[in-house]
Amino acid sequence: MKVLVVGSGGREHALCWKLAQSPKVDEILCTPGNGGTAQVGENIPVPDDDIPAIVSLAKERRVDLVVAGPELPLVLGLENALSKEGIPCFGPNAYAANLEGSKAFSKNVMHESGVPTAPFRVFDEYENARNFVREKGAPLVVKADGLAAGKGVVVAQTVEEAEEALHDMMVKKSFASAGDRVVVEETLTGEEASFLAFCDGEHYALLPSSQDHKAVYEGDTGPNTGGMGAYSPAPILPEEKYAETAESAIAPILKHLAAKGEPFKGILYAGLMFDGDTPNVLEYNVRFGDPECQPLLMRLDTDIVDVMLACIEGRLDQIEVKVKPETAICVVMAAKGYPGSYPKGMEINGIDEADKLENVKVFHAGTKLENGKILSSGGRILGVTALGKDLAEAKKRAYEAVDKISFENSYYRRDIGDKGLKRLA
Ligand code: AMP
Ligand code: GLY
Repeated sequence: MKVLVVGSGGREHALCWKLAQSPKVDEILCTPGNGGTAQVGENIPVPDDDIPAIVSLAKERRVDLVVAGPELPLVLGLENALSKEGIPCFGPNAYAANLEGSKAFSKNVMHESGVPTAPFRVFDEYENARNFVREKGAPLVVKADGLAAGKGVVVAQTVEEAEEALHDMMVKKSFASAGDRVVVEETLTGEEASFLAFCDGEHYALLPSSQDHKAVYEGDTGPNTGGMGAYSPAPILPEEKYAETAESAIAPILKHLAAKGEPFKGILYAGLMFDGDTPNVLEYNVRFGDPECQPLLMRLDTDIVDVMLACIEGRLDQIEVKVKPETAICVVMAAKGYPGSYPKGMEINGIDEADKLENVKVFHAGTKLENGKILSSGGRILGVTALGKDLAEAKKRAYEAVDKISFENSYYRRDIGDKGLKRLA
């Protein structure tokens, strides 16, 4: 069969790599793709938010399955548009994708379905939001309702900071219409973990826990990024807790959306914060995390096409989703300066040497293939991913691979996995 993957990051290279392992797949297309996906399949320069162009391409090339990497095309209705043409799409429809596309929608669904989450209020008027913030006092979290490329959340330590965030979103319109509505919620504290499940509208199959590293510098300091590394499993959420965590964070959402006649199909990603042992849901994503996807797919031990089709066809209860018992870790190599401004076009050396190491896979993110050379084209450039018998071994292996790769102005965190190692000690 022919599969089209939408997106261009490390997650999408990992998806292409995993799809290519399926004996059912004989051709992979990627829109727009990167230097890594170009080596697994064919890149086609269609942006990931151009729904009509993606649908036309899928029809023209007789694609059998479309896999959405990022959230934007799903929120824009990619699944709805494809299903009208009879083309299966892995990912939720636009209504269900609002779990990520609208924080107010998401919080209301959590509230109505009894999912533990921070108490919140939704505001459409700046004055009302400001009065509430003044009345409540800091700390508070201010969130732009719509998609804001990961920048729409401000954890405000003072009332002034909260007011500034509201002004930025609702008056200055820094995030355009994404900030017309805001959520103001109580601040929670604790360690975060990601918990993802394949969903078919009714049933779910859990993936093991994972943990992202959002801050750019070691020790979780500095500004937030898309994610500087990830590993799975996350010791903060051990296997014996999966079932009860899914009962509180995954099952109620599926039930709620099914009752609305809008069943959730695809990956449901719960972003959790543990206050002691109790997880609260901070947010839902409607897709694989990037970089969590890379270690998770290194561990997935079932044909991903079978799982995706079972999600789409509502028969996830009939298949077993197997996962390797090992630990996987992904270290992101970025360009110095990211998430601010950074140089591009650096030639990358050593990827093949790193890839040759046992149980190592280098996933491309911001790269392009030009005249046989791999050049950097983004802030997060590579996701060097390794599998080991435990976290210590996986970490050692991943950094051995990182040491084989060189490019000018390279930056990466040396402490990916350390929080987990501390917890295991
Ligand atoms: P979200 O997009 O809602 O996950 O928010 C992005 C990040 O902001 C999270 O990963 C947390 O680090 C932080 N955050 C969000 N909501 C809260 C909250 N209620 N309390 C503390 N931190 C939060
Ligand atoms: N790694 C966090 C995310 O993909 O949203």
